[in-house]
Amino acid sequence: MKKIYLDYAATTPVSEKVYEKMNPFFSDCYGNPSSLHSQGRKAKEAVEKTRKNIKNKLNAKKHKLVFTSGGTESNNLAIKGLAYKNPSKKHIITTKIEHDCVLNTCKWLEKQGYEITYLSVDEEGFVNLEELEKNIKKETLLVSIIHANNEIGTIQDLKKISQICHQKGTILHSDACQSFTKVPIDVIEEDIDLLTINAHKIYGPKGVGALLIKDYLNVEPLFHGGHHEEGIRSGTLNVSGIVGFGEAINEISLKNIEHMTKLRNKMIKELKNIKDVRINGSLEKRLCNNINVTFKDAEGESIVLHLDNRGIFASTGSACSSNTLKSSHVLSAIGLKQEDSHGSVRFSLGKETTEEDIDYVITNIKETISLLREMNPL
Ligand SMILES: Cc1ncc(COP(=O)(O)O)c(C=O)c1O
Repeated sequence: MKKIYLDYAATTPVSEKVYEKMNPFFSDCYGNPSSLHSQGRKAKEAVEKTRKNIKNKLNAKKHKLVFTSGGTESNNLAIKGLAYKNPSKKHIITTKIEHDCVLNTCKWLEKQGYEITYLSVDEEGFVNLEELEKNIKKETLLVSIIHANNEIGTIQDLKKISQICHQKGTILHSDACQSFTKVPIDVIEEDIDLLTINAHKIYGPKGVGALLIKDYLNVEPLFHGGHHEEGIRSGTLNVSGIVGFGEAINEISLKNIEHMTKLRNKMIKELKNIKDVRINGSLEKRLCNNINVTFKDAEGESIVLHLDNRGIFASTGSACSSNTLKSSHVLSAIGLKQEDSHGSVRFSLGKETTEEDIDYVITNIKETISLLREMNPL
């Protein structure tokens, strides 16, 4: 049976080149980058080369880059780290469509006495800039807005958002885990104060990420230890992972983006030919590899499992919790009814996805949806 992985927004495989670059740092050049001897210095050199490489990619001339264990940690460090450092300002603005690691960090801070404003979004998933402006007050410490949404792929205009934040005297953090390397980001031009990125969405290893922080900003560390990463993030550095991260950022080229955009457009066009479907998210300002679709009168988990049996791997936005079927907070925020949200599936493409893959997937989706709709008692 064919195997077609269309869940690259969840994670990507480590590419061969990345794996090759990482390999020596497991058992050959395994020194601790904090050690003075030549083995340690070699490891440190590799880490610093990567730091420079990532900063160059983002034009981060006025930012420090702190390596972390991934997007979740970077988002926690940005939000809690700023909050702990600035206890006099107790208002944070975010959106209803953030990744859970931002939402749950904010909810946790709410329990500690913080006021959190969760901005709504329109039916395509865009933040209303007037609403943002209206909500910033003098107690507002931070605005945290996801760059490209992980479920529906909508890309926010960070430049406009940062202009508003800075005119009103607040700080902007953005979670760019999904957009990094797919959408150009220039942290100086867009004036972004803190930026979260990670490696496993871009053919790098899991468990590595980074937080960019404007040089003059300070965050309180979440971990206390040996003063690594300028004291902001203690813990022996994951050298092989960091080297893999650095190599991975070279992997996605403009050609890959054009390829994914073409296939994404083809798949959206074909999906629209199926009766009673809705494409979720913006059609124009959308990640090159994201397709989120609602099939009326079919259930998302059933679609994903049926496709899995046919060798196609996709994701549903709805998450099964222990005893309730909780619908996706992102799809609810863009106005989908609960039953429609449950009929939604995300397909995310990779640079290896081919036109034949899309044809095969479309044929199988059509068959699966017909079958499930026939079986639907309603
Ligand atoms: C937008 C976004 N933010 C944060 C994360 C969390 O990143 P990590 O898995 O590296 O902790 C993810 C990955 O699922 C994501 O898509």
